[in-house]
Amino acid sequence: MVTIAVTAEPENEPRVAISPDTVKKLVAAKCKVRIEAGAGLSSSIDDDAYKAQGAEISASAADAVKGADVLLCVRRPSNETISALAPGAVVVGMLDPFGERSELEAMAATKAQLFSMEFLPRTTRAQAMDVLSSQANLAGYKSVVDAAAEFGAVVPMMTTPAGTVPAAKAFIMGVGVAGLQAIATARRLGAIVTATDVRPATKEQVQSLGAKFVAVEDEEFAQAQTAGGYAKEMSAEYKAKQAELVANHVKAQDIIVTTALIPGRPAPTLLSKAMVETMKRGAVIVDLAAERGGNCELTVPGQTIVSDNGVKIIGKLNYAGTVPVNASGLYARNLLSFLNLMIDKDEGTLNVNMEDDLIQGTLIAKDGALVHPNLTKETA
Ligand code: NAI
Repeated sequence: MVTIAVTAEPENEPRVAISPDTVKKLVAAKCKVRIEAGAGLSSSIDDDAYKAQGAEISASAADAVKGADVLLCVRRPSNETISALAPGAVVVGMLDPFGERSELEAMAATKAQLFSMEFLPRTTRAQAMDVLSSQANLAGYKSVVDAAAEFGAVVPMMTTPAGTVPAAKAFIMGVGVAGLQAIATARRLGAIVTATDVRPATKEQVQSLGAKFVAVEDEEFAQAQTAGGYAKEMSAEYKAKQAELVANHVKAQDIIVTTALIPGRPAPTLLSKAMVETMKRGAVIVDLAAERGGNCELTVPGQTIVSDNGVKIIGKLNYAGTVPVNASGLYARNLLSFLNLMIDKDEGTLNVNMEDDLIQGTLIAKDGALVHPNLTKETA
């Protein structure tokens, strides 16, 4: 029988890697599930809800992980926790593979099989396991809701006997999963929405959501998407042209949400200090890239600041974690779909098929060493 453990996340992480719904499915697949007491509380899941679906509640993290075959987590677990698992156990979570390297190596040295969900290939078969998408989607929604709450005016146009209130103008920079949801949410609230991205495929997506696309559409733009569907780092020349276009556009905006990321690199700077200085007093910027340094030069990761000319810049971290009920629910589903690749339901055993592209794509360490090409080619 496969034993699956879940421990409480660190203090600043409200999400949890398992839900009552996924406990039920794992128990039905002949797994034993052990959860540290209170692990789900920040996501409004109490121990009884887990117990009702067949999980065992352990008094401590050490009790939950002792001898377990699988550890499901949101953030990197401690090496002590990993070391208490069965030899060669499977750890699945968002292990921040480009984060602190020495810690990553120490984690690999535990000899567990570490799977980092950030590296999941973006294929059709992988969609149900795609943690970046499930979390970014929620972040995109919440960023606009937060911006609207911080904005000192209403978002939709309102016609009243006392006069007409204009609709707010919202500009979404970076139209990946988060950006698309931000556009849809801003539209639902009644904003006049524009959006920009360097990947040409996004133009139609923006338009299909009823927003206007704004971008430098030159030859480099036509080539800006990698085979994996991600953005490339743009040339200095493109960035200068993009900055000029954006500079003119931002002056009129009330709400800006920035979401631009390039895998494995710091977030690109899209809003300079000088641009913010031209914006209207009372405008709000939400920088969803704050965790990776931010898309706005003035962003202070983890804080909300107000610029000298009265523009509020929100650099909150872990936006998905601000809606933990859904974030944990969807994340737990993602991990369940991934685990289904390895659990033999008839035998009740773990069978890690290294030939599977999704297993191969996410495995970052095995037998004490880092093995993922994204991590091994960087070492020198
Ligand atoms: P991301 O989080 O890596 O980046 C967000 C957005 O920022 C991207 O759209 C990117 O093009 C944009 N960006 C980067 N540099 C920029 C710049 N200088 N100026 C403006 N925008 C810039 O992206 P995310 O959300 O992870 O999506 C990446 C791709 O993966 C998309 O094509 C998405 O449709 C695709 N995808 C495919 C899935 C599947 O088929 N299973 C699932 C989810 C996403």
